[in-house]
Amino acid sequence: MRLANCQNIDDFQRLAKRRLPWPVFDYIDGAADDELTKARNSSAFDDVDLVPDVLAGVGEIDTSCTIMGCKSALPLMLSPTALQRAFHRDGERAVAKAAEKSGVWFGISSLATHSIEEIAALTAGPKLFQLYVHKDKGLNASMISRCQAAGFDALALTVDTIVSGKRERCLRSGFTTPPRFSPSSLWSYATRPRWTLDYLLGPKFRLPNLDDYVKEGTGKAVSIQEYFNTMLDTNMDWDTAARIRQDWGGIFALKGIMSAADARRAVEIGADAIWISNHGGRQLDGSRAPFDQLSEVVDAVGGEIEIVLDGGIRRGTHVLKSLASGATAASGGRLYLYALAAAGQEGVERALSILTDEIERGMRLMGITSLDQLTLDQVRRR
Ligand code: LAC
Repeated sequence: MRLANCQNIDDFQRLAKRRLPWPVFDYIDGAADDELTKARNSSAFDDVDLVPDVLAGVGEIDTSCTIMGCKSALPLMLSPTALQRAFHRDGERAVAKAAEKSGVWFGISSLATHSIEEIAALTAGPKLFQLYVHKDKGLNASMISRCQAAGFDALALTVDTIVSGKRERCLRSGFTTPPRFSPSSLWSYATRPRWTLDYLLGPKFRLPNLDDYVKEGTGKAVSIQEYFNTMLDTNMDWDTAARIRQDWGGIFALKGIMSAADARRAVEIGADAIWISNHGGRQLDGSRAPFDQLSEVVDAVGGEIEIVLDGGIRRGTHVLKSLASGATAASGGRLYLYALAAAGQEGVERALSILTDEIERGMRLMGITSLDQLTLDQVRRR
């Protein structure tokens, strides 16, 4: 399979599998425990059907919207994800450029492989920083002030990784950051020479937003499970979130809210947005799918805070179902990560162009010309 033959996100997944050593592929593709939540995140969309209107004159349509104060060409965001240099030699740079070209939001993780400053200099498009609260308070303050100085448009505080989920594929493969060749996985690296040469000869793997403070992840290879469980602050609570909201002062989101009660508390601390998310099923397996949980959250806080639906999006119609059910926008990680791994910036651009096309086609077939025409009238639960 070649890039030109990829027609949907699952095709990119297949191509990524062929191009990546399996420990790296399994880090992206894998989830927690039995991976039930990961599967449900996508299949939840199958339980809701669209009810189209016709004869609506859809020659001219507008797919744009405003998300967290910035104009977006699509109601779709690229969720922040970690370690992108391990997936493609251009890492976050490729995603930043592709997002800018398509006019959509993207984010970088605290565990990004390019620096806050480098990414800010690279793109004028809307960008957010995904903050992981570390035990090292100096590190937290440094990341926040670097994002302020670099002009990031929003800060998303990750609230669903208080400890790591049990990622059994990673436990088996021994995947670490930086990636390390172990006796059991050596064969998989040897059979993916292009990735291996890129990794060995390309830019050095670093986590430059952290490595002045912690050696784990850059100088010392650790699993993500070990990183989360030793570096992150298990005492993080609502007071911490409120303090970070104050320190940051700009557009602020909580990423990983699931319950209506927590959504209400997010409103109370003055957050601008919540991301209904279970971290792609990588944390609490058995957690409800964001799409299943959407109506409860919309009933509780709809209109008071922006609601981003993060998880399981593979199709333009998934985005439309989310918006019709009350979300401000949809967002996803794997939906562009497979494409990044398969073909760098070109891959991400192709994934975005396929999703743009699907959203446009979906709107026309639904008989709508702008996104605000999507309402509960156009969806039915089976
Ligand atoms: C993960 C983190 C790093 O899920 O976002 O692996």
